[in-house]
This record gives sequence, C-alpha cells and structure tokens, in this order.
Amino acid sequence: MRKKFVAGNWKMFTTSATARQLAAAVVRGLGDEQGVAVAICPPFPYLSIVAETLQGSRVVLGAQNCYHEQEGAFTGEVSPAMLVDVGCRYVILGHSERRHKLGETDAFINRKVHAALAAGLDVILCLGETLEERQAHRTEAVLEAQLMGSLAGLEAAALRRMVLAYEPVWAIGTGQNATPQQAQQAHAFIRGHIRQHFGAEAASALLIQYGGSVKPDNAASLFHQADVDGGLIGGASLNADHFLAIVRAALA
Ligand code: PGA
Repeated sequence: MRKKFVAGNWKMFTTSATARQLAAAVVRGLGDEQGVAVAICPPFPYLSIVAETLQGSRVVLGAQNCYHEQEGAFTGEVSPAMLVDVGCRYVILGHSERRHKLGETDAFINRKVHAALAAGLDVILCLGETLEERQAHRTEAVLEAQLMGSLAGLEAAALRRMVLAYEPVWAIGTGQNATPQQAQQAHAFIRGHIRQHFGAEAASALLIQYGGSVKPDNAASLFHQADVDGGLIGGASLNADHFLAIVRAALA
C-alpha cells in the first residue's frame, strides 16, 4: 500500500509574514497525523523562514526549482546543495509553468533531476499535456516523450527518490480539473511506462500525484483512484483550511 503524499506549491505567492503564518497553520492542523505525507514548497526567499516553522513537525520542506550545478558563476540561479543546506527535502522540477512560460526542455529538466538527486534532494517531477495536445489525442505520446526525456540516464534505484506529478496543463489554475477517470487513465499510463523501463518493483512503489485545480470538494474522488497517490496543490495550498481539507481527503 502506497502512503499518499500531498504537497503544496505556493508558486510566487506569500510574503515573509504570510508564509510563516500559513506554514504554522498547516503544522497545527496536521498535528501528528501519520497517515499521509505532507510537504510545502514556498518561494526561495522564504525557505529558511518556513524551515524554522516546520522544525519538529511532520511537514517537510520543498523548493519549486533549482539549477543543475552545485555552485559556480550562474547569476540568479539556486543550486540543489543550497536547497539541502536550508532544509529542503524535495524540489519540484519540470513544472508546466517553467516548461511553457520559461521554455524549459526535457533535456534541461533531466540535468536538474540528476543534480538534485546527486545533492540528496528528492524530486517531484511534473508532467502533463496541453489542451491542444489532449484534443489531438496526443496525451500519451506527450507523457511518453516527457518521461523518456526527463528520466534519461536514471537507474531504477533513483526512482525510489522521485515522485511524479501528472498535471494536465489545461487543469492548472483554471478551476477545470481532470475527471477522476481522466486522471486514473494518465496515471496508469505513467505507471505502465515506469514498469516497462524500470521494472515492476519501481513501478508499484512509485508515488504519482495529481495536480491541477485540486480543491477540498474534488480531492477525495481524485485520490480514490487506484493509481492516484495524492496531489500537488497550487491555489488551494495558499489557504490552510483548504489545504488541510485536501490532506484529510487523502486519508479517507
Ligand atoms: P493549481 O496548481 O492547484 O492552482 O491548479 C497546481 C500546480 O500548478 O501545481
């Protein structure tokens, strides 16, 4: 039985004050609940502040991106080693906003995956098709290409330190979530790909989160699908009550 994992992606929101408050409210609300794993991923400037707030709690810290070198003359970039240093356990890579708004390619994401794992971070790797691609019946082809590209050169053992997040681009921040059946179908396809390329053990242990307009009222039906192992939550993670309701939906 895979334990469900819910992560909050705060994107480019919060201030130092609201980040601290939000993290504290999540910690309070979660208490010592152990039935679900929970992470929050604040913007870079607030990682240390949130790390302090999370100390001694069951909520772990993640970042939203990193560069693929551990240090050097890369103005404006943040290395995986720095994220480890400030207390991160996870890093989100390949988010669709970075793929589509900032032009990140699978090859670039792949370099970051290798660097993050080498530095000791666990990776939440995002995948997903655009509306146009879905309408052209290319969803599986797109997922296949993203998996091949961003997981290139990894051994099955590395998959143990990775979580995949299926996030259909048309569902992110739009209020239009995938139906539980659409999510299940994509998740089963992703797990099948992992089985084929990394073996049955890696596939059955792999956590695959769903992301894209997950809210308190649709979380349970998504999380009940056989291959949906929790969620990557954007908008709703900025409200502690909503985020905690989604976390509780993962326990049901
Ligand atoms: P959303 O974002 O929940 O606001 O749709 C999800 C994500 O981008 O990770």
